[in-house]
Amino acid sequence: MASVKDQLFDYVHVQRGKPPHVKKVTVVGVGQVGMACAYSIMQQGICRELALVDVVEDKLKGELLDLQHGQRFVKNIDIQASTDYAISANSDVCIVTAGCRQKEGESRRNLVQRNVNIFKAIIPQLVKYSPNTVLMIVSNPVDILTYAAWKISGLPHERVIGSGTNLDTARFHFLISEKLNIAPNNVHGWIIGEHGDASVPVWSGVNIGGVNLKSLNPAMGTDEDPEKWSGVHEKVVNSAYEVIKKKGYTSWAIGLSVANMTQTLLRNQKNVHAISVLAKGFHGIENEVFLSLPSVLGAEGVICVIKQTLDENEVKKLQNCARTMHEIQETLEF
Ligand SMILES: NC(=O)c1ccc[n+]([C@@H]2O[C@H](COP(=O)([O-])OP(=O)(O)OC[C@H]3O[C@@H](n4cnc5c(N)ncnc54)[C@H](O)[C@@H]3O)[C@@H](O)[C@H]2O)c1
Repeated sequence: MASVKDQLFDYVHVQRGKPPHVKKVTVVGVGQVGMACAYSIMQQGICRELALVDVVEDKLKGELLDLQHGQRFVKNIDIQASTDYAISANSDVCIVTAGCRQKEGESRRNLVQRNVNIFKAIIPQLVKYSPNTVLMIVSNPVDILTYAAWKISGLPHERVIGSGTNLDTARFHFLISEKLNIAPNNVHGWIIGEHGDASVPVWSGVNIGGVNLKSLNPAMGTDEDPEKWSGVHEKVVNSAYEVIKKKGYTSWAIGLSVANMTQTLLRNQKNVHAISVLAKGFHGIENEVFLSLPSVLGAEGVICVIKQTLDENEVKKLQNCARTMHEIQETLEF
């Protein structure tokens, strides 16, 4: 007797490979961050094909099955997982979350050479199978690793981005929204520069409903401010340390932030995100460093960088950060 499948279906066309219009995302590293990214992307129906890559085979298989068992409840998506990068072939976006994570109290910069070594194994494989991909780096220290990924990949800089301060900016919006009791997405303001301790809050540009908050409180963000708004930025900087101390890792917010940027890329939406881009030439930065600046993203990566009007203090902080990062980069072995 013919199988049920053969009796049920009349095959008209057998699909071979990924048709060009099908959107595919690869996530490398199925740890807490990688899986939060994968889950957010799947849940929001952002792509049609999702590939997961890691070095730990059992964990990969377990995570794959767990996501597949939920497929019934989301828009149909093909999910694959393997330690072999061949499954990542023809990805439109490759998200790299693999690597060591911060230990309690450890700075992001400390992680750097350990994660560069891991990148030397990962990035060439991704580029080999998806030469037209946009690489999105999430592993920390994200800005230096984005620079490393750019160097290792040989891709044009506009196709290598870091998740950067997109998350710091979201934390900033959330904390301001709490203070003012409004929705976080109605707070407009940017955290730029390095993701982490030396990030730069652009107080001069924070506005709500078109009202510049610094015009209401000119001391905002300074030590002289009686309302102590600078505490908001201190909380942003401490956010990851606080979450890591309490639950061991951060995951949900970074997953949502990455999914949001991935959607902009795949749908060519031209939204502005604070992402880590090649910052040479902006705000007097002379070295090849990746720092977050508000940038317009489309299908082929960075379309343009917004020329923000920064005050003297903000430019100085950004330049200091660029200098320190360049010094660290000079010590790296590729
Ligand atoms: N940019 C951000 O805003 C942000 C936020 C949170 C975490 N992070 C960073 O993301 C990274 C991952 O964090 P996590 O909590 O998921 O860590 P984790 O330890 O839970 O997961 C890391 C995963 O990487 C895998 N891995 C290690 N080496 C690999 C290799 N050579 N190839 C493929 N996979 C490999 C591990 O097997 C593991 O599954 C860390 O560097 C962390 O600091 C960044």
